[in-house]
Amino acid sequence: MRLLSFILSKNSQVGEWMELKEQVLDALERNKGHHVSGGALAETLYVSRNAVWKAVKSLQDDGHHISAVTKKGYCLAPDSSILSAASIGKHLVDYADIFDIEVYKSLPSTNTALKEKAAQGAREGTVIAAEEQSAGRGRLGRSFYSPSGSGIYFSILLRPPVKATDATLITTAAAAAVALSIEAITGAQAKIKWVNDVFVDGKKVCGILTEGAFDMESGGVEYVVLGIGINITTPEGGFPPEISGLATSVCGDEAVLGIRGLLIAEILNRFWPYYQNLSRKTYLTVYKEKSLIIGGDIDVIGGDQTRKARALDIDDDCRLVVLFEDGKVESLSTGEVSIRPRTT
Ligand code: BTN
Repeated sequence: MRLLSFILSKNSQVGEWMELKEQVLDALERNKGHHVSGGALAETLYVSRNAVWKAVKSLQDDGHHISAVTKKGYCLAPDSSILSAASIGKHLVDYADIFDIEVYKSLPSTNTALKEKAAQGAREGTVIAAEEQSAGRGRLGRSFYSPSGSGIYFSILLRPPVKATDATLITTAAAAAVALSIEAITGAQAKIKWVNDVFVDGKKVCGILTEGAFDMESGGVEYVVLGIGINITTPEGGFPPEISGLATSVCGDEAVLGIRGLLIAEILNRFWPYYQNLSRKTYLTVYKEKSLIIGGDIDVIGGDQTRKARALDIDDDCRLVVLFEDGKVESLSTGEVSIRPRTT
């Protein structure tokens, strides 16, 4: 009885936007490890039992581990780890109405896909996630390795009422939300390498790519697409040689892909209040506390020049304050730095 009323209330919340398959998966995901009767599902979703059965069959074909037991119903196995809108949505405690989530098996790039949607007028809070990206993109024209079954790749559409210059704070807020979420869900100690990489055990586990469109006349922002990629487990066969020295995964070799929905939701739950108070910079304390480089020796890379410096601080505008070898102190607002190993 409890189960049915829960499904009913969920159903009235989501309205008609979900397809039947998604609604069935949503109900099973919310009762993961428990049986849900086909009759109750059919009644709640205003469809026939046969339609429910067909939806379950199709979900099974997609790879979801759903068992069917006579007189008990359908059960999504606790180890079923396919990423779905339902597996993220069920953890969006306070923000279920804010985010409109779509999950794809494979996309060239979730940022590219979401930018196309943004240009067509998609609403703020639209999220696109993919199990893999065939052409994942990183900062400075680099690519982002995004194989299937080992990571999280997703993008969030924002329409912030701020000037273009303030939009850069979105990346900083996201880095703080990611670092806190990784720690909360996995227990791994996450650090932020200015400006927007998240590190665990001295290697990169997460990259963030923020792209936007601007209104030239007003200097305002039309939209921002915030893309986040996290290595959860080590990919089969390891990372490619060109990044194996720099990249690692949050959970090593453990088979913990089931946490992906929870981790994405945790990031959205933590990022949203930061974003809503962007100008108050409520994320700044966390961002500074988790800095990997404050107090350390770094190389500041600009164009074809590399200068040695000491990272002194991160200021209130999230600029990196550095002391160069010649004694000059500068505040950097963008750029690339690398950490120099201690020699003593
Ligand atoms: C970087 O490390 O340079 C940034 C990497 C950003 C990767 C994410 S994965 C989701 C989104 N889609 C992309 O193509 N890139 C971002």
